[in-house]
Amino acid sequence: MSNFKKIAVLTSGGDAPGMNAVIRSVTRYALANNVDVYGVYEGYKGLMAGNLRPFKERDVSNIITRGGTMLYSARSEEFRYEEGLQKAIKTCRDNGIDGLVAIGGDGTFRGATDLSIRGLPCIGIPATIDNDISATDYTIGCDTAMNTTIQMVDRLRDTCESHARCNVVEVMGRHAGYIALHAGIAVGASAVLIPEFAFNEDQIVEKLLVSKDYGKRNFIILISEGLGDYGEDFTKRIEARTKIEARFARLAHVVRGGSPTLRDRVTGSEMGVEAVKLLLAGKSNRVVCLRDNKITDLDITYALTLDRMYKGKMKPEELAPYSEEQVEAMRTYCAQKRADLERYYKISMDISK
Ligand code: F6P
Repeated sequence: MSNFKKIAVLTSGGDAPGMNAVIRSVTRYALANNVDVYGVYEGYKGLMAGNLRPFKERDVSNIITRGGTMLYSARSEEFRYEEGLQKAIKTCRDNGIDGLVAIGGDGTFRGATDLSIRGLPCIGIPATIDNDISATDYTIGCDTAMNTTIQMVDRLRDTCESHARCNVVEVMGRHAGYIALHAGIAVGASAVLIPEFAFNEDQIVEKLLVSKDYGKRNFIILISEGLGDYGEDFTKRIEARTKIEARFARLAHVVRGGSPTLRDRVTGSEMGVEAVKLLLAGKSNRVVCLRDNKITDLDITYALTLDRMYKGKMKPEELAPYSEEQVEAMRTYCAQKRADLERYYKISMDISK
């Protein structure tokens, strides 16, 4: 055990339901282990500005049920540069902070690495509705977002049934189709369109026509925002080609708010405890991950390289620090992840009519 006296916790990037469960867990577990806690407001921006205050157990009461983040969030350009980083380091030094738990997505983790390199031990916790951080099977907030999505789409289906319509529903996910795909299976969508897989519009139209012929009245198509503006025009083409009246709906930030599900509360609590344990064990530059249903941790730099490898954005020189076995393990992991996504995509197509 290292002799940590005080840690800080912040949330950064897009908010996600369950972030409050993490903040609560980090605070309570640290205090239970005689470590003081500072809550930092508005992410790295707040860390640079010294916008923080000490937290006691009661400061995080009644937040586990709430969506958003009680610490607020912000994106900061200044924090990308040395001057900004030094301001953050100074805030920590001035307040006697020995470690930081940073909750958010890949941008948050890059910031955590930058601070770790400059001597402040940092642990990242993945929280984004998109579930697009490849090193972990799960990111806090996704389950709530998917459940909100299916509630909204179930409502749309009711009105589609009444009016014999098709509703094309666009959901968030930035460049990832995870929310659209899983919610699409859960609502029985006629088709799911995501950026990871090519699709054939003619086949989708044909499928709708066949279903219409055998008496189907309501049609739901889920589309991920990663496909850009495709959804609205696609909706018009569906109506023109099938003569099924069609509507377009963009759920947007609606699915990012709301009270977190059990999964986001429990996994968030678990990850918060793990982050404090890692700091107490003297670890730094680690990200807490869920893999094969187990909480574990990885080096952040490794996790970000793995993420870029999976997304096809990695530069070959990024692999230089790793052994052949490690690179092979990374490739195997990415192939498995892709295979899992393909399996779900196939399910979504095989069981929709
Ligand atoms: O990363 C979470 C997310 O909600 C994405 O799904 C979406 O593309 C993006 O953030 C929206 O960002 P903003 O809140 O800046 O509009």
